[in-house]
Amino acid sequence: MTQRLPATSSGLETAARILREGGLVAFGTETVYGLGGDATQPAAVARIFEAKNRPRFNPLISHFATADAAFEQVVATPLARKLAQAFWPGPLTLVLPRAPTSSICDLAADGLESLAVRVPKGECVQALLQAVNRPIAAPSANRSGRISPSDASHVLEELEGRIDAVLDSGPCAVGLESTVLDLTAEDRPLLLRPGGIPAEALEEICGPLAYPETETDAAPASPGRMLSHYAPALPVRLNATSVKPTEGLLAFGPIPLAGAGAVWNLSQTGNLEEAAARLFSGLRYLDKQGALLGLTGVAVQSVPAHGLGRAIQDRLRRAAAPRPL
Ligand code: TXA
Ligand code: MG
Repeated sequence: MTQRLPATSSGLETAARILREGGLVAFGTETVYGLGGDATQPAAVARIFEAKNRPRFNPLISHFATADAAFEQVVATPLARKLAQAFWPGPLTLVLPRAPTSSICDLAADGLESLAVRVPKGECVQALLQAVNRPIAAPSANRSGRISPSDASHVLEELEGRIDAVLDSGPCAVGLESTVLDLTAEDRPLLLRPGGIPAEALEEICGPLAYPETETDAAPASPGRMLSHYAPALPVRLNATSVKPTEGLLAFGPIPLAGAGAVWNLSQTGNLEEAAARLFSGLRYLDKQGALLGLTGVAVQSVPAHGLGRAIQDRLRRAAAPRPL
C-alpha cells in the first residue's frame, strides 16, 4: 500500500521519517514529482531503481534544502556559486566533481566522479528536505520510459504499491524537468538537458554554452559516458561457471563458485535489491583485494535477467567492455 500524505506538518513528519528509515517517498517539486530515497543509503537507492523498473542504472540528481548543503557534496566552482545564487531554489541541476568527502553512495552517482545536485523550489519540498536533513536522490516518479508525473494522482497511477508514500503538494508549477548543466567540462558549461531554466537565462551568467554534439553524447550508454564510469582495474569476465584461484569472484546466490582468490557475494539469498545495493562496493572490494593478492581478473556469476537484474547486468556489461588503452 502506498500512503497518500497531505502536505501538513504531520504528513511531512511521516514522509521525513520514512525517508530516514530508507523508504521511498514521492514528493512534488516545482518541476515534476520526484521519487525520493536517502542518497546515502545504497539499499534505498536500489529500491528507487526497482520501483521504476529501470533496465539500467542511471546517475540520479541529489536534492538539498540549501545551496550550502548541496556544495558540501561537490567541488563548487565560482561559476557554480553564481548560478546557485541566481537560480536556486529553482529548476536548475548542476553537475560538478563529487567531493572526496561526499556521503552520496556510488549507486546514486552510478559510480561517476561527478554528481548532479539541485535545490528545488516549493514550500512543501523545502520543508521536507529540511526535516530529513540528508541528500535525497530523486528521479522523476514514473515507471521507466513513461511520462513524468506532475500531480500526485499521476504518481499513484504509476507507482501505487511500489513505494511507501506520496506527499501530495498539488500540481507542479513548471511541469517539466530541471535544466541539467555540466560544469565539469574543460571549457564551456555543457547543457545536457534543456528544462525549466532557459538556456538564454543561463548564458547571461555563463556566457555561451556548449551542447552535446549528438543526442547520444548525453545518453548514459554512449562510449564517452562509459569511460567516465568507475571501471574496475581488473578485467571482468561475465557469466562465469568456474573460477580460478587467481581470480576474484563476484558471486550471486546461495552457492558461490568454489576456488576463487577472493569472494564478494552480491546477495546470498539471491535478492536483486540487495545485489544492486552491494554492486559498486563489491567491485571496489575485489579491486582492492586484487591489488593486495595479485589477482588477474574478476569472474562474475550470472545474475537473473528480471527486475533489477537487468540493470545489474547492464552495469556489469559496461564494466566488462573493452577498455581504451
Ligand atoms: O526536475 C528534475 O530534475 C526532476 C525532479 C524530481 O527533481 N528529476 C529528474 O531526474 O528529472 P531524472 O533521474 O529523471 O533525470 C536526471 C538527469 C538524467 O538525464 C541523468 O542522466 C542526468 O540528470 N544526470 C544525473 N547525474 C548526472 C551526472 N553525474 N552527469 C551527467 N548527467 C547526470
Ligand atoms: Mg525522468
